[in-house]
Amino acid sequence: MDTALKNEMERLTALGLHRRCVEGALEGVAALTLEINRLKKAKNAVICAHVYQTPDIILGIGDLVGDSYKLADDCRKTQADAIIFCGVHFMAETAKILNPSKKVYVPSRNAGCSLSEAITAADVRKLKAAHPGLPVVTYINTSAEVKAESDCIVTSANAEKILKRMYEKHPAVIFIPDRYMGANLAKALGKTPGKDIILWHGACVVHEKFDASLIAAYRRKYPGLAALAHAECPSELISAVDFMGGTGDMLRYVENTNASAYLLVTECGFGELARLKFPGKNFIAMCRLCPYMKSITLNSVLALLKDPAPEEVTVPADIAARAKVAIDKMFELAA
Ligand code: 13P
Ligand code: SF4
Repeated sequence: MDTALKNEMERLTALGLHRRCVEGALEGVAALTLEINRLKKAKNAVICAHVYQTPDIILGIGDLVGDSYKLADDCRKTQADAIIFCGVHFMAETAKILNPSKKVYVPSRNAGCSLSEAITAADVRKLKAAHPGLPVVTYINTSAEVKAESDCIVTSANAEKILKRMYEKHPAVIFIPDRYMGANLAKALGKTPGKDIILWHGACVVHEKFDASLIAAYRRKYPGLAALAHAECPSELISAVDFMGGTGDMLRYVENTNASAYLLVTECGFGELARLKFPGKNFIAMCRLCPYMKSITLNSVLALLKDPAPEEVTVPADIAARAKVAIDKMFELAA
């Protein structure tokens, strides 16, 4: 076997990636990560990997890894000429808006998001007309056009903090498009949906379907269990868990606590990553796959590196300029 391939297999094994490969499969994974990392360097490209990607992508080829907020922030600082976004389209659009001079690519045409598809710019204009004077606070899981109609963007990592700041100046806000996250935030802040916070009917296809009634059964089976859920889950489920947050907050919670077991109610890639990062901790799976995130594979990243042009992400300059004002507001208020 070629020495470079042998070394790559050893590198992946040290990262724990052999544990998710059936007998003999690691060699194929190593051949792909080796070639991707070689091409990436040659093209001065950086690979962003959201934590819902598979661990071979996150650990094998990812340069910038994290939740939506961290990835957007990290992208602002990169010196690379090109950004390959292993995440979903709205994340890549955000990277492009923040880096207009860089090329940005997504290695799948199917990497959408049910939340992003739930609302259009015309819908936001109608909401604004129906509630004049109220600021539009928009979850980052939206299109560039929707961001351009917004006053401030938020992610799950900073939504509560930013909403608090908004309420210092406004009696009510429009929060779009996730009705569950909006209701969860309203509850945390003591606000009334429909009165203090105007919601839209969007939902995440992954998080809206978790069954809240199962949490009690897990607790009976695993005494001392810590149950963590993403803020996109319905309120009934959030009431049953110990911690609600974004993926970055959930990882920090696991790192800083010592529960007998952790129930992670979110996309499956997150649990896979948590197992590899914290091998001494016990994780219980109550996860669902995001079909959009999982449309990206090592093979699709390699294909993109060989022929990037068709997968380039572009945002019209006027939309990008308006969306950037709302994204910059997030960085200002989240700091
Ligand atoms: P995070 O910003 O918490 O990683 O969430 C992104 C997302 O799409 C959750 O479904
Ligand atoms: Fe969108 Fe849900 Fe997938 Fe996140 S998990 S990218 S919110 S569909």
